[in-house]
Amino acid sequence: MDITKQTYEREEVVEKYYDRYLTAPEYFEIDIPKLVKTFPGKKLLDVGCGPGQFSRIFGENGFDVVGIDYSKAMVKKAKSLSSDENNPSYRVMDMKEVKKYFKENTFDVIWASASLLHLEKTEIPIVLKSFKYILRPRGHMYLVIKLGEQGTVLLKDGDLGEGVVRKFTFLNEKWFENLLDGMNFSIIEKRLKKGSVIGGRPSNWGHYWVKSQ
Ligand SMILES: C[S@@+](CC[C@H](N)C(=O)[O-])C[C@H]1O[C@@H](n2cnc3c(N)ncnc32)[C@H](O)[C@@H]1O
Repeated sequence: MDITKQTYEREEVVEKYYDRYLTAPEYFEIDIPKLVKTFPGKKLLDVGCGPGQFSRIFGENGFDVVGIDYSKAMVKKAKSLSSDENNPSYRVMDMKEVKKYFKENTFDVIWASASLLHLEKTEIPIVLKSFKYILRPRGHMYLVIKLGEQGTVLLKDGDLGEGVVRKFTFLNEKWFENLLDGMNFSIIEKRLKKGSVIGGRPSNWGHYWVKSQ
């Protein structure tokens, strides 16, 4: 099993992640009310939902939310925090397989906060293409990625404590924007936020709010 997935299957890591990033929306300074008003429909997929911070917020704001995560432990935690068992609905699923489970044009919005960063660089174009397939025309995506010197680093003892190993892929800003452009996604809003130094490499958070043509 992939080392990052193994890490996210550990219940103590899930608890640590939950305690630390329960406040992810504030941490990322995301203007949720503005997004809620502007998104072009209510059917939202939260990719790599983790403990479901964003799934719950959108569910409470009238969205019909499906949260997916490849970690059973994360999905279990997300479900335990939900007061409505149907919305958000959570499923254990690898984002690389969304096309197997969802039909074309299923979602109005795809939300992926800090989850694409665990893919290999070569997997990102394939996954974005499958997102485009399940997103309806003129649907929106909100992607939070790590920008920096392009490549994958193994983080051993980071924000989740000693012995917690995860892989992170940093992307080059221009490379990523060309990729979006080539797939006919136009940028509605882009924000950069200073991130931490991982494996000796400085990183920035890139927030890309984009629209499919
Ligand atoms: C850094 S956490 C982000 C969680 C949440 N979205 C947030 O913003 O706090 C990354 C999450 O993505 C999930 N993940 C990583 N790779 C995945 C994949 N290929 N398919 C589905 N989930 C994945 C992990 O299990 C983890 O819950």
